[in-house]
Amino acid sequence: MKTLIVGGTKGIGLATAKMLAGERELHIISRSAAEEQVPGAQYHQLDVITDELPDIEDLAQMVYCPGSINLKPIGSLKEEDFRTDWEQSVLGAVRVVKKYLRTIKKQENAAMVFFSTVAVGQGMPFHASVAAAKGAVEGLSKSLAAELAPDVRVNCIAPSMTDTPLAARLLRNEKARESIASRNPLKRILEAEELGSMATYLLSHAARGITGQVIGVDAGLSSLKL
Ligand SMILES: NC(=O)c1ccc[n+]([C@@H]2O[C@H](COP(=O)([O-])OP(=O)(O)OC[C@H]3O[C@@H](n4cnc5c(N)ncnc54)[C@H](OP(=O)(O)O)[C@@H]3O)[C@@H](O)[C@H]2O)c1
Repeated sequence: MKTLIVGGTKGIGLATAKMLAGERELHIISRSAAEEQVPGAQYHQLDVITDELPDIEDLAQMVYCPGSINLKPIGSLKEEDFRTDWEQSVLGAVRVVKKYLRTIKKQENAAMVFFSTVAVGQGMPFHASVAAAKGAVEGLSKSLAAELAPDVRVNCIAPSMTDTPLAARLLRNEKARESIASRNPLKRILEAEELGSMATYLLSHAARGITGQVIGVDAGLSSLKL
């Protein structure tokens, strides 16, 4: 079984890669070199939006992690912000799907996992660009789930604030962390491993009945009001 993790060098992608290491052949794409390498993984250093993607024979599964937390009031968001966020979250994912779909479709337990954000289902201030791009990711993943059934399962995970390099600026000190944690029912900032566990589960044989879902791993933020 071969699995590609786009963005498997940091944060949630790295956590997912560590969980899958050893049990399958892993391919990992990122723009910068991995600071922490997962044993046995094959690394491809490239920009998924602009560069040619490598051929990977018999690829069965993909996880697509690139995204941003570009939070600004709408007056400060430039058209360029929307374009960049859309390219990173949506167009990059589309490029990867189009490159590998023919191969993925032929494999056993073929599956794709994408990442959205809790801010698509729950309106949040300053999220216009990120939520617009990730809303498109949810639409993309549901549409693909329908189009590719029964051959490929396609699911999307919508996290709340998770402690990764992407969120480091927002989680810059204890006061900021406490303030962010206090806004969700479980009063927590998630760890990358919690999202990695969900991604790993969605790829597994145990999740063979799950497709077309947007699954909130969000400390209760999307559905509870306390
Ligand atoms: N962390 C959170 O609080 C949070 C909350 C809600 C949703 N999410 C979503 O969850 C997903 C994962 O988040 P994360 O926090 O783990 O992100 P992260 O720490 O920024 O990791 C992203 C990974 O993607 C790679 N990457 C980014 N752009 C790329 C490109 N153009 N080409 C190739 N590789 C690229 C990065 O490596 P390089 O930089 O070296 O390319 C890195 O390995 C994202 O889609 C994010 O929007 C995260």
